[in-house]
Amino acid sequence: MSGANLVDATPRRLHPDLPDVGPLAFGCWRLTGTGADHSVVEAALDAGMNLVDTADVYGLDWGGRGFGANEEVLGRVLADDPSLREQVVLATKGGIIPGVPYDSSADYLRGAVDESRRRLGVDTIDLWMVHRPDPFTHPAALAETMAGLVGSGAVRAVGVSNYSPSQHDALLAHLDIPLATNQVELSAARPDAMFDGTLDRCVRDGVTPTVWSPLAGGRVVTGEGVAPTLLAVLDELAERERVDRAAVAVAFTLAHPSRPVTILGTQRPERIAAATSALGVRLDRADVYRILAAAGVALP
Ligand SMILES: NC(=O)c1ccc[n+]([C@@H]2O[C@H](COP(=O)([O-])OP(=O)(O)OC[C@H]3O[C@@H](n4cnc5c(N)ncnc54)[C@H](OP(=O)(O)O)[C@@H]3O)[C@@H](O)[C@H]2O)c1
Repeated sequence: MSGANLVDATPRRLHPDLPDVGPLAFGCWRLTGTGADHSVVEAALDAGMNLVDTADVYGLDWGGRGFGANEEVLGRVLADDPSLREQVVLATKGGIIPGVPYDSSADYLRGAVDESRRRLGVDTIDLWMVHRPDPFTHPAALAETMAGLVGSGAVRAVGVSNYSPSQHDALLAHLDIPLATNQVELSAARPDAMFDGTLDRCVRDGVTPTVWSPLAGGRVVTGEGVAPTLLAVLDELAERERVDRAAVAVAFTLAHPSRPVTILGTQRPERIAAATSALGVRLDRADVYRILAAAGVALP
């Protein structure tokens, strides 16, 4: 590596009313059926991952008990060790109803937030997000609902997830409180958000993106469905940086100037700890463009 390092491992500010968070976060989607206890959240905090991300709908996949189950598990973990609550920036999402599938109406979202608070065992959710856009809710109505959730004290900060650039624009045209995040997919294997305007909107509007599936759900590690050329470039950089392929892939997401918070999905304490090696990875401009080219991005 000869150029300047682009990987930014410094803390991020999502919202003026929230504590700063580490550049890596802990995601609870795959908490289902793991028998998780406080040790997994402690491992995340030890690794500097103080943003803990879940959703009301998590618990349906992988043969889970169903809607709300992962929030209940997390609520029990927080109840077992009350000292954890003040160390964690607690993030959850709502607005997906299996079978409907999306509802961002005021009545539904207010009720969903109350149910999330009950399952998590907290009066106030630090960051609450609309999980997926509902095109049948007017953005002005959603903005009013979001402001009301903050005004009532049910949530400290609001965000969205999986919003396209135009959906982001339409909401911000009506929202007169800060939008803390747009949580979007980004990985070396799926770098689309860098090119379709999603991350550009975040930069323009001072919104910190949170990034899901930075390892493409593990496929960057297993190689399943990922271009062999991309795996080869990641491995070459990993050898140079003396880390594993996963660390280089995570570092790649941290190199974008939108300064994302990257949410890791592993539930294994040893892998949570190992993920911090990504923060020491150095990638320069030539490295990140090699990754993009190997991922199949056209760079004329
Ligand atoms: N907003 C949304 O629509 C949305 C969608 C999807 C996810 N999310 C959020 O993003 C979080 C992360 O998503 P994700 O789980 O797909 O992320 P990911 O980090 O890309 O994938 C995690 C998977 O990779 C596996 N893995 C294999 N090798 C690994 C290694 N060396 N290090 C770490 N993991 C390895 C993990 O298995 P082990 O557990 O066995 O280590 C796990 O199954 C979720 O928990 C959720 O909070 C949000």
